[in-house]
Amino acid sequence: MKPSIQTTMKRRQFLKSAAFAGAGTLILPQTTLFGAAAPNNKLNIALIGTWGRGAAHFGAIAGENVVALCDVNEQHMEGALRRFPGAKTYVDWRKALDQKGVDAVVCCTADHMHAFVANWALNRNQHIYCEKPLANSVEEARVVRANYLKRKGKVATQVGTQRHSHENFNRVRELVLDGALGKLERVSAWGNRRIPRPGYLPPEGNPPPYFHFDLWLGASPYHHYNPGYFSGGPGANCLQWNMYWDFGSGQIGDMGSHTMDLAWNALDADLPTSAVAKGDPYNPDVTPVKLEFHCEIPENRWRPGITVSWYQGGAMPESPARCVDLNKIGHGAMFEGDRGILIADFTTRMLYPLGSRANMTYYKPRAEKDLIPAMGSFQGQWINAAKGNGQTSCDFDYNGKMMEMMLLGLVAYRAGKKVTYDPAAGRITNDEKANELLRRDYREGWVLNG
Ligand SMILES: NC(=O)c1ccc[n+]([C@@H]2O[C@H](COP(=O)([O-])OP(=O)(O)OC[C@H]3O[C@@H](n4cnc5c(N)ncnc54)[C@H](O)[C@@H]3O)[C@@H](O)[C@H]2O)c1
Repeated sequence: MKPSIQTTMKRRQFLKSAAFAGAGTLILPQTTLFGAAAPNNKLNIALIGTWGRGAAHFGAIAGENVVALCDVNEQHMEGALRRFPGAKTYVDWRKALDQKGVDAVVCCTADHMHAFVANWALNRNQHIYCEKPLANSVEEARVVRANYLKRKGKVATQVGTQRHSHENFNRVRELVLDGALGKLERVSAWGNRRIPRPGYLPPEGNPPPYFHFDLWLGASPYHHYNPGYFSGGPGANCLQWNMYWDFGSGQIGDMGSHTMDLAWNALDADLPTSAVAKGDPYNPDVTPVKLEFHCEIPENRWRPGITVSWYQGGAMPESPARCVDLNKIGHGAMFEGDRGILIADFTTRMLYPLGSRANMTYYKPRAEKDLIPAMGSFQGQWINAAKGNGQTSCDFDYNGKMMEMMLLGLVAYRAGKKVTYDPAAGRITNDEKANELLRRDYREGWVLNG
């Protein structure tokens, strides 16, 4: 096996400090021996969840050493093993992470195990790319983020919100930061995906011998097997289970992870201080289809405090003018300033100056040379960062804060009232009982921060 990235990173660090100490006396060879493209500088990757979304990452990781494959469905591992024949195989991700030499993890399991895999990888100082959503509860988002912050600069993390690589994300951020809307006042994001489900599926049949259903359930409370949870096509099977509270967070974690990212990227936001929500009547099995919530986000150095809102499943922000129909945008974001409005979807944007004062003289577009550079490959950015080249755009700090806000919105919905939130302590301050909703119950034997 090729030397692991940790060994090569040590060598690179040595070379860097030797070059610095020698102040010009060290002569480096002309060919790049230690750059991301050097043949011996490869990550030893464990891919957890090898079918569906997992398979979508094959191309991005094929240039590295894929040394471990893990799937609770042994049949699903066959395609991955054909692609990466040298890898060891596992059905329990905890064992895969403990394989000697694994220094990076790609996690594509069901949502309810993401924070577990993320924490376990971080606690082993492994770089981790985790599919969205990063967490399924406020507590999970906080624990993962805290674990990352302890190792910031040493491990590379990225949440799988790959739409972030659309250059439109940069253009939206520039317009907001450069004052095209005047003073920013409120921001909304929305999604129109609707997956109504009545409740957990009734027991039906037994899992096939190659499918380790108990490991799929993982830390979640026990539910009976039903093949309906697994009847979706590759890359879309998540829609069969992500509306159930014990397996996902509905549209908050699904399209919400992507769409709120479009807004969050332009806000430099910290954690919220309150949340209030309304939506479908509460169902103890299933997350709501129709929902909206509104969070107060504190001011920062370039803008005042703002309200950030999320709408889904038929709830929508009001259109800013009769000639603008927001309903035509399936997943979008709207930034409202005192002089104009910016409406965007993932790839396009529209600026709408408002009122007689909006003559645009207050806005000076930045020079081409100052535009935020395109990031290129989203997964490649993580691989490069793991090799010490650059940083990731959607690390567990950036995305962890966003998910904490999104999941607090769900807590406010369940609490049925406006909750005030102490972001430093991670506590609801006006309803002691609602604090129980910040966390999930786990089955015995499963440790979140192992
Ligand atoms: N970034 C995106 O655009 C995007 C798109 C689709 C799905 N996703 C995310 O990817 C994840 C997987 O979605 P999917 O539709 O591929 O789901 P899926 O149900 O098809 O699961 C993917 C694979 O992971 C395996 N798996 C599930 N739990 C596991 C566990 N605990 N350990 C090992 N293997 C496990 C499954 O058997 C399956 O082979 C979800 O969290 C989803 O939100 C992201």
